[in-house]
Amino acid sequence: MQKPRRMTPNVAVLFHYTHQRKGSDEGMPLVPLTQVLGEAVKGGYGVGAFNCNNMEQVQSIMKAAQECKSPVILQASRGALKYTNMVYLKHLVQAAVEEHPEIPVVLHLDHGTLEAVKQAIPLGFTSVMIDGSHLPFEENVAVTKEVVALAHDHGVSVEAELGTLGGIEEDVVGEVQLTDPDQAAEFVERTGCDALALAIGTSHGAYKFKAEPKLAIDLVAEVWDRVHIPLVMHGASSVPQDLVAEINKYGGKLEATYGVPISAIQATIKYGVRKINVDTDIRLASTAAVRKLLAEEPQKFDLRDYMSAAREAMTKIVSRRMHEFGCAGHAFDYKPITIADMKVKYAQ
Ligand code: G3H
Ligand code: 13P
Ligand code: ZN
Repeated sequence: MQKPRRMTPNVAVLFHYTHQRKGSDEGMPLVPLTQVLGEAVKGGYGVGAFNCNNMEQVQSIMKAAQECKSPVILQASRGALKYTNMVYLKHLVQAAVEEHPEIPVVLHLDHGTLEAVKQAIPLGFTSVMIDGSHLPFEENVAVTKEVVALAHDHGVSVEAELGTLGGIEEDVVGEVQLTDPDQAAEFVERTGCDALALAIGTSHGAYKFKAEPKLAIDLVAEVWDRVHIPLVMHGASSVPQDLVAEINKYGGKLEATYGVPISAIQATIKYGVRKINVDTDIRLASTAAVRKLLAEEPQKFDLRDYMSAAREAMTKIVSRRMHEFGCAGHAFDYKPITIADMKVKYAQ
């Protein structure tokens, strides 16, 4: 009989990744959002959902998750899909789960349309957001129902949104409309969505508030009482003042601005928010690091120098958020399932 060949450690690791970690339809052992948020409901914590557009962002978010032993939601906007030509993003995330096989990772489409959902599901996304918040109620119900049917048929989770945020939300011009709890109950009942994004006074981007903000925190408890599905907070960046100052110190021109205080986010987590979307803080951290490095060492021109600085800064802010949201330490609380498992559950 032929003696089995001994593998070098690296080959053995690669073998393990490629042969043991296959689970989902796409060979990516990604986890559905419903499981990650369901566990967060049980544990009473929030899970950070971090936007990513390139390798350094994926790496820094994953490094933070590994160090914090935290489940994580990697989310890609339609802009990110366009920027990465989709296939790069898919393989970046595949690399991430291969490198960190023990971390529960959700790949989520942020602010999707029906068209984007149809692109994301075959790419291996385990969760999609259908953002019909700018539509009249009945149209939002109709498109969300259509997405729920399509996504659940593949075991993919669905986040929907009711109410409108302030600021620069896609396709939304006009005033902020806070989520109505009665409408939320009807919406969830009629659509069967798995998670609901609320409008409680936040907005996207760096320019959220001109002074200390007031959020409709009680609304979270009112909605949770009626819908009992995990709630989502968009526009949750805190816009750290030290990062704004650092950017401006090294040549940036950001205006005075305030984000969402961490204490306010923690209050919403107490009342039922389980997914917390953060993009702007990562943009600020990376920009500050790149500006600082290039200003202090103007002789440098190797992209790896300033992207390494950016990567380190992004890991730091994401780790901080994982501790503040309470998801740190929860990566190994449960055995991850796949969308194939969810498909069976939805069919029941
Ligand atoms: O909610 C929006 C996110 O911050 C994504 O922004 O569309 O520029 O990628 P983006
Ligand atoms: P921020 O702009 O506050 O980071 O919000 C991001 C977000 O809501 C992504 O969907
Ligand atoms: Zn958002």
